[in-house]
Amino acid sequence: MSTQSNVKVVTTHVLTAMKLREEKIAMLTAYDFSMAKIIDQAGIDIILVGDSASNVMAGHQSTLPITLDHMIYHAQSVVRGVERALVVVDLPFGTYQGNSKEALCSAIRIMKETGAQAVKLEGGREIVESIQRILSAGIPVMGHLGLTPQSIHKFGTYVVRAKEEQEAQKLLEDAILLEETGCFAIVLEKIPAVLAKKVAENAKIPIIGIGAGKDVDGQVLVVHDMLGINQDFSPRFLRRYHNLYAEITGSVTSYIKDVRNRDFPNESEQY
Ligand code: KIV
Repeated sequence: MSTQSNVKVVTTHVLTAMKLREEKIAMLTAYDFSMAKIIDQAGIDIILVGDSASNVMAGHQSTLPITLDHMIYHAQSVVRGVERALVVVDLPFGTYQGNSKEALCSAIRIMKETGAQAVKLEGGREIVESIQRILSAGIPVMGHLGLTPQSIHKFGTYVVRAKEEQEAQKLLEDAILLEETGCFAIVLEKIPAVLAKKVAENAKIPIIGIGAGKDVDGQVLVVHDMLGINQDFSPRFLRRYHNLYAEITGSVTSYIKDVRNRDFPNESEQY
């Protein structure tokens, strides 16, 4: 099967074509230049500068504390390392909800100051006005439904969302609304696989899942989780491809030992 994987640059149009051709989309987060460069060169389609930076980079308990300035710093670093992937940046909590003018200003700052290609916002009908205003400036918007971590204090827990009929129906309607409003893709986080399948079948835009099963158009994971850097987070949906925590610990303990034993540096490692 011919694929889009040899395209020079991934655009929102490439992603739509991938959905049409039933070619799965691979997306990961990144927050810094070095990691972005590695995963871009490995062929990832979308890099999300996620507000999960608040957890994995800054050590906060939630995504709420991260600011627009922090997100811009991370996104600038990522964009410098990327040649092929589409770079999407999360609008952080408090920069778009309930105020479409502020939403537009936040999105414009991200686009102007970082060179990223799109923004992502969490929520459905409540934030449609903000999405419309951002789209009116020609800025591509990715939606995010299901578990929306910026609303954690409303939900109370990080459990699976939309298991009940009423919430599932609202999610289906919100997905249609986001597509009709003009979002180029939607992330579905931690919802039942049958519901995610229904959304993906109804939608013409790519639906990217995280904890949403296999019958969607692509998958996203937090890079620190899938590489096993972060050991404190083990939801069922997470597949760990490596145990970097153990690898790094092994390397650092060897280094400490070598320094203490006067084994590092040796003669060939000095001037
Ligand atoms: O911030 C993030 O990393 C995200 C992904 C979990 C989709 O929004």
